[in-house]
Amino acid sequence: MNDKQRLLIQYICDGDIKKAQQQARIILNELTTAKDEAFRINMLHKLDAKPNMIELPYNLREFLVAEDVSNFPESRFVLRPEEAKIVEKVMSIVKASERLSELGISYLPAVMLYGGSGGGKTILARYIAYKANRPFVYVRFSSVVSSYLGNTQSNIAKVFEYARTAPCVLCFDEIDAVGMARGQKNDVGEMNRIVIALMQEMDSLPNNVIIIGTTNRYDRLDSALIRRFPIRHEVRPMSRSDINNLAERFFKYAGIVTDGWLKDWCDTNFLDIELASTVIEKCTQLMVDRIIQEIDTKKYNS
Ligand SMILES: Nc1ncnc2c1ncn2[C@@H]1O[C@H](COP(=O)(O)OP(=O)(O)OP(=O)(O)O)[C@@H](O)[C@H]1O
Ligand SMILES: [Mg+2]
Repeated sequence: MNDKQRLLIQYICDGDIKKAQQQARIILNELTTAKDEAFRINMLHKLDAKPNMIELPYNLREFLVAEDVSNFPESRFVLRPEEAKIVEKVMSIVKASERLSELGISYLPAVMLYGGSGGGKTILARYIAYKANRPFVYVRFSSVVSSYLGNTQSNIAKVFEYARTAPCVLCFDEIDAVGMARGQKNDVGEMNRIVIALMQEMDSLPNNVIIIGTTNRYDRLDSALIRRFPIRHEVRPMSRSDINNLAERFFKYAGIVTDGWLKDWCDTNFLDIELASTVIEKCTQLMVDRIIQEIDTKKYNS
């Protein structure tokens, strides 16, 4: 038995599943023989598919979902240069946060990701958490917004209290649900108070808490709330080269050889600009067709 295998057994015996999974990944990545290839890919996929939920204190489970994103499937992710810059910027603010705090300067690494549905905002937020080596914690707005007057503010306070004590990436997915412009026609007093509570909490956060808001209704967001997010980025649909890159990564990950046909397939199936979700859907459909074909061939031959 080698040291790596020994460590794996130790983690399993200690009941440390997270470390055991990390160790299993290390061992799998070192397998090189053709005989092990199918096993390696299969097991790595199983590890990637693990949701890796993090236990939260009982009173927060209703409002927050915390994920360990250390297994983020980087090989399937297309990082475009403009998004790489955003990630770098967040990391540099985090790095400078201590010094800024000492100087009494408040500068949150807060990012507002906006753009059409299916463009890749949530996955980019997860990627930022992965790069920052922090859990990805997202807020369930539907539970935070209480029908009982006054409860919403205290729920928001609980969420921020958690972020202050546990380093994480706090993601307000679809922030437009509460961040609508105050004074809009359908605005109610409660909504107004929620936006204010959210802004006040953000103003009192330490500089090292990473906040991400995502929305596909940027136009509806309160301008004062937008100002709290110094980094704003539109996640645009994919260009031709992004599409080819995403499809190639997808099929490679799925173990499908793409030599010779991928470019033509992309040219016929996609326009010059597509949402990432459309690309993923068509690639998945191709996989489904292949799996069905395989099953039918096996049936026919047996
Ligand atoms: N850069 C990317 N690389 C790989 N996959 C991507 C990328 N961007 C998006 N995807 C995939 O496309 C799909 C849609 O992405 P995502 O859910 O992040 O979009 P969204 O902008 O958050 O959509 P919505 O506004 O509806 O919540 C997901 O399956 C995601 O994994
Ligand atoms: Mg989303």
